[in-house]
Amino acid sequence: MEMAVYFLSALVCFALKTEAFALEPRLTWQETEISLTHFQVQDVYNYSSLLLSEDKDTLYIGAREVIFAVNSQNISEKKHEAYWKVTEVKNEECSRKGKSKQTECLNYIRVLQPFNGSALFVCGTNAFQPVCDVLELNRFKLLGKNEDGRGRCPFDPAQSYTSVMVDGDLYSGTSFTFLGSEPIICRHSQHLSHLRTEYAVPWLNEPRFVHADVIRAPENNPEGDDDKIYFFFTEVSVEYEFFNKLLIPRIARVCKSDQGGLRTLQKKWTTFLKARMICHSPENNLIFNVVNDVFILKSPMLKEPIIYGVFTSHLNNVGMSAVCSYSLSSVEDVFTKGKYMQSATVEQAHTKWVQFNGEIPKPRPGACINNEAKAMNYTSSLNLPDKTLQFVKDHPLMDDSVAPIGKKPKLVHQNVTYTQIVVDQVEALDGSTYDVMFISTDKGMLHKAISNDLEMRIIEEIVLFPDHQSVQTLLLSDKTSKRFIYAGSNTEVVQTPVAFCEKLTSCAECILTRDPYCAWHPVKNSCVNILEESNTDRILIQDLNGDASRCPDSADKGIRESMRYKVKAGSTVELKCSYKSNLASVFWTFNKKALTINPPKYLLYNTLIILNVTEWDAGTYQCWSQEVIMDKAFSQVVMKYDLEIKRTPLPLTSTTQATTRREEIMETTRFYTIAKEKTTKMSTTQAVTQFIGITHFNNKITPTVSEMEIFSSMPDVGVGKALYLTNTNDCSLLIILVIVFFFLFFLLLTYNCYKGFLPATCLKYRDAMMHSKKKTPLNLKDCEQGVKETLVEKVCPENQCGGTQKAPHDTGYETEPDCGNGSITHKDDETTVETEKDQPFDVKCEIKYADSDGD
Ligand SMILES: *[C@@H]1O[C@H](CO)[C@@H](O)[C@H](O)[C@H]1NC(C)=O
Ligand SMILES: *[C@@H]1O[C@H](CO)[C@@H](O)[C@H](O)[C@H]1NC(C)=O
Repeated sequence: MEMAVYFLSALVCFALKTEAFALEPRLTWQETEISLTHFQVQDVYNYSSLLLSEDKDTLYIGAREVIFAVNSQNISEKKHEAYWKVTEVKNEECSRKGKSKQTECLNYIRVLQPFNGSALFVCGTNAFQPVCDVLELNRFKLLGKNEDGRGRCPFDPAQSYTSVMVDGDLYSGTSFTFLGSEPIICRHSQHLSHLRTEYAVPWLNEPRFVHADVIRAPENNPEGDDDKIYFFFTEVSVEYEFFNKLLIPRIARVCKSDQGGLRTLQKKWTTFLKARMICHSPENNLIFNVVNDVFILKSPMLKEPIIYGVFTSHLNNVGMSAVCSYSLSSVEDVFTKGKYMQSATVEQAHTKWVQFNGEIPKPRPGACINNEAKAMNYTSSLNLPDKTLQFVKDHPLMDDSVAPIGKKPKLVHQNVTYTQIVVDQVEALDGSTYDVMFISTDKGMLHKAISNDLEMRIIEEIVLFPDHQSVQTLLLSDKTSKRFIYAGSNTEVVQTPVAFCEKLTSCAECILTRDPYCAWHPVKNSCVNILEESNTDRILIQDLNGDASRCPDSADKGIRESMRYKVKAGSTVELKCSYKSNLASVFWTFNKKALTINPPKYLLYNTLIILNVTEWDAGTYQCWSQEVIMDKAFSQVVMKYDLEIKRTPLPLTSTTQATTRREEIMETTRFYTIAKEKTTKMSTTQAVTQFIGITHFNNKITPTVSEMEIFSSMPDVGVGKALYLTNTNDCSLLIILVIVFFFLFFLLLTYNCYKGFLPATCLKYRDAMMHSKKKTPLNLKDCEQGVKETLVEKVCPENQCGGTQKAPHDTGYETEPDCGNGSITHKDDETTVETEKDQPFDVKCEIKYADSDGD
């Protein structure tokens, strides 16, 4: 029971904190609305590696046992293919070691990198015996080099990997052994020495690699700095003491001209340093501790590269995702000026990581060979002093951490797991530059988002994979005019344009979407992609503040339908209103006056239903959609209907009343059926929001249908889960949760009583129940009943319900401290959390939460 209380209090904290993060994309593009280009070959799976050719005309795709070359403008056009299958012998050998013959013991392409102008460097897992080869592009043939791929490619296709080719040398992060237990970051070079990381916990501790990239030092920089290769991964923390493995996002870097040490750190990196990345929302105390992907935005328009990362959490905010961005200078400051961490043995065999405050040897450990080192006559890492090398070997971890730009996430979104990110830069017509983030989810969606100091918003979401395949790779082609995004999954590759301007059919829609790629073309009378138009800047209309009043009067006003209806008096009319924006609210006017929608005359869902029309109902009905953008409301007519009523002779009053009554009832039932059908089809979030939408417009709509019934009509949605999505205020949320909790408690109690698990005092009570022949509640409606009944049963004196069992009032729930000032007094001393000032994570709440799991 204690466990449940903790869980509940954690859930309440979570619910209260996260309501603000229901970021609704303005537009949703289903695959039927936008025909995306697909690439898929029968019996080929795991399209996991994507690479664009240097001229960007060809997209290379590395899948399982095959490499393809396709036209990058239209990926359904296959140019070449090169199969690379495991031999029968290898396949057998692998399956004898206990791996699956049909899946694991195949050749998964994991490295696909440009080699020189006319070849690619490729590596595959090759039935747990990784090999590398060169793919000659003219003939599209593998040269059959069969180089040992250990250290460059994982053995196990399920294991993480990353690699980047820099000046002909391959830098990779992967695992080195069959079991995958030895993580490694290494360089395979043709002219420099091969280098690798130490096999030691402080260097790499169960990392999951997500990205690697090079950042070039500016030419002729005054420090004589070197090009650096950055690695991003999530690993198990050594510096935080936690009763469980605590994951932490890391950035690590090495210098390109590193040659290893002469004696100490021979053939090992002398410049390997790592730091933790912080992605933390201080206002809500949300911590994102798992980095899933990184994109480094390098653009001539930027003073310095910006690192974008997508994060999820294993801590308090499970189910949420965030994007954090980092400036390169903040990263560099940590490595070049920050403090190091060092391990200290406290008791026997118990080490603790603390800030190193002693004297740091010179040249600075882990620094590249720059002008300062050269001035001290250290021209290569090979002649660095032992002291420096020994220091960096023992202190690869920085004490300072890399904080995100603005000290908080760029974007936080709930109920989504972000997997990959690419970022494009586009200069809008007003001259300002926008970083447009394209973020994929594990359910086959792509979110296009913009974030600045004023707001964060998702312009649109695109259904990339209708079968909800997880997006495993994203690639942006930055050809100046025609830009595409390529996404790979286990079953196919899909190509999508960066914007769908032409699908926005009116000027108002074009402006309200606030997409920096799109502008209204008054001459063509259409919404166009500004990158594809030339020299028309002056006539194009773009307003990223969404001021649609700038649209010319002549422009298409977006009325999609204007209809004339002629109906008989006494019948029921249904007027449809469809609009694209998920953010719009809807209202109706009748003969230019606002229509008050009250039953029994009117009912409103997506359609307006007018019951028992009379000649007074004849006139013009208009459906308006309203959007509020930066506190300004903009309304537009999306549908227009002219209703005419055919006169019919008046029947007897009594009959009319009877029929209308019946019709009314029928209509009402039909309406609720519509509502239910819709809710079951839509996702939970949508369903709930929409439902709230109705009640918002029409408070009197719920004479018979309670919220509970709507919830119960949604499949596989726990009431608790659905509840926190609603916009009810915090107080009623708490009350509902408490009720749900009581209900669960009593269900348990009743069950235990029924089964006779409880002490004898309770059995009396059970007998009473058995005699009254009550059944255990089965469905939710019965459950409601059940709550009432058990609430009555609660009246039984506390001392009758057994000594150990707490009375329902005394759950300790009210006295449980909330997340904000939660204490961990119930913990024993070995898991006491340190509250150091510089500790980036406030783990109090999580301890409590996770502890409940452990009970
Ligand atoms: C490869 O694709 C198959 C088919 O979708 C999937 O079941 C499997 O998990 C994938 N394997 C890897 C290593 O991604
Ligand atoms: C570096 O080497 C040069 C030539 O070998 C020598 O003249 C100079 O004094 C040395 N400088 C230092 C700081 O050791």
